[in-house]
Amino acid sequence: SIINVILSGGVGSRLWPLSRKSRPKQYLPIFEGETLFQKTVRRNQSFCQEILIVGNKDNYLLSRKDLNKAGVAHYREIIEACPRNTAAAIAFAAFSGDPRDILFVTPSDHLIQPGKAYSEAVNRAIQLAVEGHVVTFGLTPKSPETGFGYIEANGEEVVSFREKPDRPTAEVFVKSGDFFWNSGMFCSRAEVFLHELAKYEPEVYEKSLEAFNSLEGAFLSEELSLAIPSISVDYAVMERTDKIKMVSAAFDWSDMGSFESIYQYLSEQGYPKDDLGNMVIGTDLHTEFTGLTNTILIHTEDAILVLQKENAQEVKQIYERLEREK
Ligand code: GDD
Ligand code: MG
Repeated sequence: SIINVILSGGVGSRLWPLSRKSRPKQYLPIFEGETLFQKTVRRNQSFCQEILIVGNKDNYLLSRKDLNKAGVAHYREIIEACPRNTAAAIAFAAFSGDPRDILFVTPSDHLIQPGKAYSEAVNRAIQLAVEGHVVTFGLTPKSPETGFGYIEANGEEVVSFREKPDRPTAEVFVKSGDFFWNSGMFCSRAEVFLHELAKYEPEVYEKSLEAFNSLEGAFLSEELSLAIPSISVDYAVMERTDKIKMVSAAFDWSDMGSFESIYQYLSEQGYPKDDLGNMVIGTDLHTEFTGLTNTILIHTEDAILVLQKENAQEVKQIYERLEREK
């Protein structure tokens, strides 16, 4: 069958203080009253017969709550004791069903406009996956972002895959016109994915299998999980496999990764900001800005963050420092 594997393991550190360990960004009900997790579930339901959540011990109750809200009663779950990155997370999913299952792997924290373009891309990806390919979705790049993977492609043929290039390289990629942003969604048969993983990262394959084999209910053992090398699927498989294909993703897509993308999204929704582009998120308190432009003020119960929109990537460092100081 076709399974929507929903990866829900990240903490969303660049969205602190909105996003917290106890409530990562995919569970924030700030998108037309829905969470990104709920939207993901609903968007993919019509393409898949099954839903499998690969989450962790800190967030699986939040996932269950969202599934319930989305009206989904039947789903499977695999609950990680500690995050071991996406290569392992997808391997668990692949071990858990039939080798011929089609895995449609999606992050839980992206905002995507469902519709004709989305359906066409997903259906084409499923078709290519049935034929034995590992399928990526390529978006037309808007800027030389360094937080994304880049796919060099000629139609559906992939020439190369480069995860998170440095800035000068990303600039060359975007200028060339031959590169696409990797959307972070993948589609392949379970057995094809596992074959490629075993070929390129045998240790990840073996240690993930060992951990999977000692599942207790839906829970993975911490001790066995810690032995799995932490590497993302992009480095482990996508940069190396010759079974890779790309379908072009002509739909609206945003990786709600930073306050800059949240700002962009809210602006498009007609959310208020002042004449100089300053925006307030999270409070009804009357707020004024003077002498500031493109500033975002985020107000939560126990923390306030004030940032220049252009510095949105630096919030991650704040989060990491606070974690260290805890
Ligand atoms: N279950 C589980 N376990 N999920 C995980 C883990 C883990 O250990 N680590 C990450 N995830 C989930 C995240 O919650 C997210 O939904 C998805 O897997 C991708 O992880 P990110 O950490 O957000 O990856 P990224 O944004 O740096 O890069 C990926 O996405 C980009 C597009 O947004 C790559 O695929 C890039 O190539 C791509 O451009
Ligand atoms: Mg991401």
